[in-house]
Amino acid sequence: MILITGANGRPGSATVREFARNKEPVRALVRDPAKAGDLRELPGVEVVQGDMLWPETLQDALAGVDRALMISGAGPLMLETQCTFIDAAIRAGVGHIVKLSGKDSIDGFDNEKFRSSRSHEQIQRYLLASDVKWTILQPSQFMHVYFEEVPDIVASGELRLPLGDTTLAPIDIDDIAKVAYKVLTTSGHEGRVYPMTGPEAFTMAEAAGYISDAIGKPVRYVDVSSEEKSRAWLEAGYPPPRATAFAQLFEERRRLGRSSVDLSTHLRLGIEPTTFAQFARRYADIFQGGAQYTVTPA
Ligand SMILES: NC(=O)c1ccc[n+]([C@@H]2O[C@H](COP(=O)([O-])OP(=O)(O)OC[C@H]3O[C@@H](n4cnc5c(N)ncnc54)[C@H](OP(=O)(O)O)[C@@H]3O)[C@@H](O)[C@H]2O)c1
Repeated sequence: MILITGANGRPGSATVREFARNKEPVRALVRDPAKAGDLRELPGVEVVQGDMLWPETLQDALAGVDRALMISGAGPLMLETQCTFIDAAIRAGVGHIVKLSGKDSIDGFDNEKFRSSRSHEQIQRYLLASDVKWTILQPSQFMHVYFEEVPDIVASGELRLPLGDTTLAPIDIDDIAKVAYKVLTTSGHEGRVYPMTGPEAFTMAEAAGYISDAIGKPVRYVDVSSEEKSRAWLEAGYPPPRATAFAQLFEERRRLGRSSVDLSTHLRLGIEPTTFAQFARRYADIFQGGAQYTVTPA
């Protein structure tokens, strides 16, 4: 049996859907089954309840599992959550843990400078030091984070970010789900690290252009200050630690300025990379404000 944790979240639910699309049975770990929505209706999907921080709640989830995709939110508890889960999974006899990690596309980005990327490094070290087989997935920024800009896009036709002319190379979560599916269902991925970005590095002015083309309305990029964006995040209800962490991250991206594309994983696994223009067209209803999208605060 294959287990996917964080199955109510963005990459977790996308990977569960990829399994269902391929008619491959999978078990989905959620903290709150009431939030699992249509996941429970998907063919071959078994939704189980448990909390990765509390091993005693994971017995049903881990029973008979050979491989697990480990995902939890990027918040302050990620390190403790994932190390606790690794211990519980090994005790339950899981043979291979695939960790969803992260890798900024920005050239020269220092993972040790930021809590969530530093936590990923620490969890990776913990996993590598254990005697379970492992694979690390390292996607860049998710394209889905641009949904968080929908209120401004709808209200004023503006994409307001503190990034100057920095380029980023975000990836579609569905591409990550395809990678995770292949890694979990085929052999030869043990002991490998799979970095991945989208197929192009673009400025926020170009991102605004892609969204504009997709929704058929003008959208322009406005380069706001870090302070202004932080205030906007707080007014939008982001918890202060999240707003602060984002502000620091964006300041570093702006300072370093340039991203590189890495399609080595897409090429290796035969996955067609999704462009931001394709992504924006697929989700034009969300970028127009016509469909609901929930942002999960970390
Ligand atoms: N956002 C990006 O651009 C980006 C880029 C690269 C990598 N990443 C990494 O991707 C991962 C997922 O981030 P995300 O923003 O996509 O998060 P997300 O959508 O919130 O998904 C995280 C999921 O983990 C679940 N979870 C958290 N703590 C748990 C626990 N103790 N037990 C069981 N489940 C738990 C959450 O459950 P609930 O639904 O119950 O809250 C949620 O469904 C993070 O490690 C992040 O660093 C993110």
